[in-house]
Amino acid sequence: MTILVFPAELKPQEKRCAVLPANVKAYKLLGATVQVQAGIGASLHVSDEDYVAAGADVVASRSELLTHADIVLSLHKLSEDDLEHLKPHTVIVSYLDPFNEKAFVTRLCDKNITSVSMEMVPRISRCQKMDALSSQASLAGYVMVMQAVNHLASVLPMMMTPAGTLKPAKVFVIGAGVAGLQAIATAKRLGASVTAFDTRTVVAEQVQSLGAKFLHIDLGETGETGQGYAQALTPEQMQIQQREQAKCIADSDIVITTAQLFGRKPPQLIDLQTVESMQAGSVIVDMAAENGGNVEGSVSGEVVKHQGVTIIGTGSWANGVAKHATQMYANNLFNLISEFWHQEDNIFTLHLEDEVQSGCIITHKGQVVNAMLQSIYAANVSSTKEKEEA
Ligand code: NAI
Repeated sequence: MTILVFPAELKPQEKRCAVLPANVKAYKLLGATVQVQAGIGASLHVSDEDYVAAGADVVASRSELLTHADIVLSLHKLSEDDLEHLKPHTVIVSYLDPFNEKAFVTRLCDKNITSVSMEMVPRISRCQKMDALSSQASLAGYVMVMQAVNHLASVLPMMMTPAGTLKPAKVFVIGAGVAGLQAIATAKRLGASVTAFDTRTVVAEQVQSLGAKFLHIDLGETGETGQGYAQALTPEQMQIQQREQAKCIADSDIVITTAQLFGRKPPQLIDLQTVESMQAGSVIVDMAAENGGNVEGSVSGEVVKHQGVTIIGTGSWANGVAKHATQMYANNLFNLISEFWHQEDNIFTLHLEDEVQSGCIITHKGQVVNAMLQSIYAANVSSTKEKEEA
């Protein structure tokens, strides 16, 4: 019988985990054995007894837990030390950040581990139920508005009171993908006047359907990748965007930036001069602060002030609503496992020719098998060789 193993998360401050008791029951119905590390749900107030009642074995020793695993499922990637305890051919499933974590991925090849990257699950209809980027980004959109509100000294809705009328707050959202659309919807629900911009003009209709205004900026040709991601802008287009959005930013009480470029550093959209054009007391939330930032002056993991403007770069946004984030992430994992579960044999099956697996499996049988990453890793190997030969 396949043994599914869920270690506790090691990242400091992380409250989420990869499994809840409801998922344990569902995995048991598939026919799997479920083992969790003791204390895995502690920060969500889910006790070891709750996991046992759902049918899991609770194991105190992390190394012992990993030694038994056929499949290891977690939120963040395992530690290097964890890999030492795995059998060859173990399947690991988590966020892997394979574009940047080259040493770790190379180690997975050396250890003959099959790895699944949750960031690389294709953005196609069939995969919506497994799409952790979307589930966590959607909650991030909500959390970013909540954090901004906590730092603003005004209310969001218009209020007409005997003591006077309060104008609705102005919120500007840059990037109207999954997180941006949820931020727009949340700010609208709270009564703000919301404007949004995205380089993919196809989203204008979605922005307007949420009751927000779309800021039209003529950037000329802006493309989308086959998976619906934005293409990087040229330096000239970046200049036009920054110039045209400057007035909207200066007028806003809250600016939320969510712009990302798949597999690349996020674009810098707001410079310090533009930050300084905002009223003191306004708030910027930089969703990308952890990866380089959309906003000059944002600091990863911190809330900072620049000339009276608060810039929030705390990151780990979905961790701010850890219970629901866990529920969604754990369901994403279950949906991925059950999609490829062989009922009669009670095993998770690998089909590397399947478009879902070929999209998200990174390493298998000692090789980087993912087509999108192969060229990057081949370049990595040849540049290492060149350095050795020099
Ligand atoms: P993302 O996190 O990569 O980027 C966020 C947003 O930033 C995107 O809308 C992008 O166009 C925008 N952006 C990039 N550069 C910008 C700039 N300079 N200025 C302003 N905005 C900029 O994208 P996310 O949210 O993960 O999804 C993007 C798209 O992927 C979706 O809109 C959709 O088309 C597709 N998708 C499809 C799914 C499915 O069918 N299963 C599920 C989720 C997303």
